[in-house]
Amino acid sequence: MEKKTFYITTPIYYPSDKLHIGHTYCTVATDTMARYKRLTGYDVCFLTGTDEYGQKIENKAKEAGVTPQQFVDNIVEGEKGILDLWKLMNISNDRFIRTTDDYHVEAVQKIFRKMYEKGDIYKGSYKGKYCTPCESFWTESQLVDGKCPDCGREVVDAEEEAYFFRLSKYAERVQRLLEDTDFLQPASRVNEMVNNFIKPGLEDLCVSRTSFTWGVPVDFDPGHVVYVWVDALFNYTTALGLLNDKRDGYDKYWPADVHFVGKEIVRFHSIIWPAMLMSMEMPLPKQVYGHGWLVMDGGKMSKSKGNVVDPYILAEMFGVDALRFFLLRTFPFGSDGNFSNELLISAINTDLANDLGNLVSRTTAMVEKYFGGTLPAEREAAELDNELLGMVASLRERYEAQMEKYQFQNALEEIFKCIQRANKYIDETAPWVLAKSEEGKTRLATVMYNLLETVRICTILLTPFMPESCGKIFAQIGAEEAVQTWDSAAAFGGLSATATVHKGDAVFPRIDAEKALAELSALQEAQKKAALPALEIEPYAEEKVDFETFCKSDFRVVKVKACENVKKSDKLLKFTLDDGTGTDRQILSGIAKYYKPEELVGKTLVAIVNLPPRKMMGQESCGMLISAVHKEQGEEKLNLLMVDDKIPAGAKLC
Ligand code: MSP
Repeated sequence: MEKKTFYITTPIYYPSDKLHIGHTYCTVATDTMARYKRLTGYDVCFLTGTDEYGQKIENKAKEAGVTPQQFVDNIVEGEKGILDLWKLMNISNDRFIRTTDDYHVEAVQKIFRKMYEKGDIYKGSYKGKYCTPCESFWTESQLVDGKCPDCGREVVDAEEEAYFFRLSKYAERVQRLLEDTDFLQPASRVNEMVNNFIKPGLEDLCVSRTSFTWGVPVDFDPGHVVYVWVDALFNYTTALGLLNDKRDGYDKYWPADVHFVGKEIVRFHSIIWPAMLMSMEMPLPKQVYGHGWLVMDGGKMSKSKGNVVDPYILAEMFGVDALRFFLLRTFPFGSDGNFSNELLISAINTDLANDLGNLVSRTTAMVEKYFGGTLPAEREAAELDNELLGMVASLRERYEAQMEKYQFQNALEEIFKCIQRANKYIDETAPWVLAKSEEGKTRLATVMYNLLETVRICTILLTPFMPESCGKIFAQIGAEEAVQTWDSAAAFGGLSATATVHKGDAVFPRIDAEKALAELSALQEAQKKAALPALEIEPYAEEKVDFETFCKSDFRVVKVKACENVKKSDKLLKFTLDDGTGTDRQILSGIAKYYKPEELVGKTLVAIVNLPPRKMMGQESCGMLISAVHKEQGEEKLNLLMVDDKIPAGAKLC
């Protein structure tokens, strides 16, 4: 019999910057779902990829002095790029699409032409607002406080000849889709779409641009490139061979079972995407699931805010599986979650090290200690076993119900209730007491078998979340492949009655929270610093100074006769200077952070000497020493201007 298919996608990511933990969250969730469906027997197609066109990428490439293609190639394929990250995170995608792939470009051109020939795309003139970072057009009424309603940044006026898609024509059908079916999940997102976007009147969508060139060219009208969202959304179908013969599987996998997308792009997936598919007379995806964001201190992570979290650092410190687990255990998938290093460490220590890790290591250690690693076949059941056995035997059903609703957190909660119950069962049955007498041994073997079976069933269901660690646990409890299956998770009794365990290292070592937090914040700080520009110089003054005013400034060469810290001040140094007049000049300068007084004695400097004297910390300062200032990696740097010692004190600068 042919397997049932399941087609699941992540959004395709913009390779405009390195990806952060927020992007990783969505991909890990999709991967977990794909692995779960494979486990339950589906023929899964899991697609992810990159969305490489658009003005933002063109601008970034220009800034970096490379071509847009070179720019995206580096972020996608370069060291610690997107492909590397998915490999590190053990992402099991079946396909990867890049929108610059030629088969995709050609298919998008055909799609655009088809909608044009049908009359659903027409030529007009676009006048409105454009948010460059989001690649989104907005009407005046959609702006929030005059800014982009998605990201809150400034928008710019835009007017140009453009093609439009007749989105308005499909408004009613899309509204029915949203209101009358379970197409958009969680259902709480439906109202926002209908009330904010459809009810106020869906305007036709501008779907081409002429002001930049990094896009799919409209083949029948050179000079126009296809709006990046039109090109991007169709990736879900071109990757399956729609209108191209380089890929295949369209008939098998389309329509998608679910598109996982972040909440800010639900609008594109639940309004524009179905409308375009309706125009193309193609089947609609079965579901769009809008998940929440991982936020930092309440705000979205973004490079410009400097609050992005690097998944490489976390995976290296805590392990890939611990990171995958944390993301889905801690935050409900449909809502926002506040990321913190403390939460991550607590999930590892509480759930993985304490509950699961301890259960595995205590059980295997006891089987080794009391039975030399292999259980005897005799059993002796007791009333006390029933609660645990009942809970574990029905676990798969409760887990499945949650997984089918994409409620990863709840599914894990069901598993951990069993794990906690099993740990309590150890305390209740007191194996160390049973081990003391020969008569207790049969009962002890029963307790051990029940524990091993609990571990086995929980591990099967945890495999989609933590594939590698679960493999290690199976090895430790001696579970062969035949008893790692979905079918075998439905009932007790999978392991042989004379199961043999192989105690190994702790699968989830406990983290020293204090030490790890200190290390993490040092690493994250260093990374933040490294991301700042290597060198920053002050912008040049716009305002001109007339020559006469400039000439009034009297700059002189001065020699440092003495220099000391000013008492009670961290900032000020007091200079006694030879300015060539025969009378010492005193200048105070706020540069104690940069120089030790003794290193400046004897130096030849430059000062402006005709500023009015002023008092600082009760002392008079007659002039100002001239320094050069700039920033390196965000840090202020200051250098006093020093000139050749041959120049006599008092020499005028002109
Ligand atoms: N290129 C578009 C998607 C086109 S799909 C046809 C895009 N790319 S993106 O790189 O900006 O974002 C990709 C996904 O990452 C989005 O679903 C977005 O919501 C998700 N995330 C980005 N930051 C996130 C968090 N901080 N938290 C959770 N998800 C986040 O949008």
